[in-house]
Amino acid sequence: MKNRSIAIDGPSGAGKSTLAKRLAQELGFLYVDTGAIYRTVGLAACRRGIDPSDADKVVPMLPELTITMGYGKDGLQHMFLDGEDVTRAIRENEISICASKVAAIPAVRAFLLEMQRRTAQEHDVIMDGRDIGTVVLPQADVKLFLTASPQARAERRYQELLERGQQADFDQVLREVVERDRRDTDRETAPLRQADDAVLADTTGLDLEGSFQLLLGLIRERVDV
Ligand code: DC
Repeated sequence: MKNRSIAIDGPSGAGKSTLAKRLAQELGFLYVDTGAIYRTVGLAACRRGIDPSDADKVVPMLPELTITMGYGKDGLQHMFLDGEDVTRAIRENEISICASKVAAIPAVRAFLLEMQRRTAQEHDVIMDGRDIGTVVLPQADVKLFLTASPQARAERRYQELLERGQQADFDQVLREVVERDRRDTDRETAPLRQADDAVLADTTGLDLEGSFQLLLGLIRERVDV
């Protein structure tokens, strides 16, 4: 039987990963965070002192990298770079910027495409990212486009950084959210865009529980889970 797939796309900070993780648990699907894969490439570039926007430097690095995904006993996705568990390291704020820059390079996207598709062939997945419904899994059973206002998203990101004990300045976080949206939306290859057949879910003003119920309802209207 064909595995089922649910694609969740949207801008950074819309709550995709938190919600997708909970939905996956609820439905018994595997959660695949594709942003973490781009973050791992961004981390590799930045650690080597390579400018993450410079395709001529980033692309030759790709074949040297061993990037793997694994699922811990906690059921959570861990990322490995050359055997090292980098799950925490890729969450640093500066790596968000490196990830967004390497993600604009077409050869990086092509390099990571197969890994994402293979995972969806092998499991029932909820996959979140920017181009899952448009490029990675155009045949997904359900496509959701999750968004919220830039202010709401910056506020969530800001709280997240504080909770992790990292220093943060709200105005800077907001500027970075807007800048990252612009880079993810304006890039030529696989820009952030709502697929024609995706359902728009706006979570501005909704808390986590409200957003979760909204998405669960939208999914259950479309697949038998
Ligand atoms: O979802 P995230 O913030 O962890 O993603 C990090 C960066 O990777 C983000 O700036 C956009 C990019 N990305 C992408 O281009 N395509 C995806 N499918 C997932 C993430």
